[in-house]
Amino acid sequence: MSTTRHDKIQHHYDSIADVYDHHYDHHRGRRYHTHVSSQLMHPLPRGGRLLDIGCGTGLFVEKYIKIGGTAVGLDISGKMISRAQHRCPTSDFIVGTGEKIPFSENSFEAISSLLVFSYVKDPQAMLRESYRVLKPGGVISICTLGKKLLTRGIPAIYQLGEKMKIPHLVMKDFGEHYYDKDEMISLFSQAGFLDVGVSWCSFAHIDMIDPLFNFAQKVEPFVEKRVPQLAYNICVSGRKPVD
Ligand SMILES: C[S@@+](CC[C@H](N)C(=O)[O-])C[C@H]1O[C@@H](n2cnc3c(N)ncnc32)[C@H](O)[C@@H]1O
Repeated sequence: MSTTRHDKIQHHYDSIADVYDHHYDHHRGRRYHTHVSSQLMHPLPRGGRLLDIGCGTGLFVEKYIKIGGTAVGLDISGKMISRAQHRCPTSDFIVGTGEKIPFSENSFEAISSLLVFSYVKDPQAMLRESYRVLKPGGVISICTLGKKLLTRGIPAIYQLGEKMKIPHLVMKDFGEHYYDKDEMISLFSQAGFLDVGVSWCSFAHIDMIDPLFNFAQKVEPFVEKRVPQLAYNICVSGRKPVD
């Protein structure tokens, strides 16, 4: 039986679930994750019920409930879900895909998805499903790898690393799709979202050595606003109309 891309991604995250937080919840990784999380959080309502698609080990769910909301996490990896449940024992977590969300319509005030969308095989389905489960007036906020100068070479680097059997802890090449602004606006608009907003995020990369990372974080706000071709994540938000 052939292994689908979905299965490969799921197995990969199952296999790194126990070490994922060493990467994104320590040292430079934590500073990077805090930065992208705050951009993701910006358009979301404070309070209310959030669905986090591709919640991983629950890092964003934890941040959202700290500011007063409730949250449900959804992820294809059962092992990542177990870590998330351990981190946030009072929240609900479910194994499943963002392309077929296991909730009825009008269930959430907000949807978030951080560092996931580039993996999703059918982005239209994920946005259609998100629209369905959001309440009228609900907000979706997504942050994922964008198609920019610094991300163009990433797939080649990971393919080479895999060929040379150089292990990279978190990232691998799964044929991800990197999005540009027009593509995102078109996907969100086709799904029915209004007030679609796009911004660019991240210049400091987790694999930089400390002094470089510190410098990159200092100039990050300037780069994101004035030289967005050097930023490598794209953040997109939209609102479900009120009838
Ligand atoms: C880079 S991790 C990000 C995890 C978390 N959002 C964070 O910020 O730490 C990507 C996550 O997306 C999940 N994932 C990938 N494709 C998915 C899909 N179609 N539906 C739901 N989760 C998915 C993976 O299992 C993994 O946990």
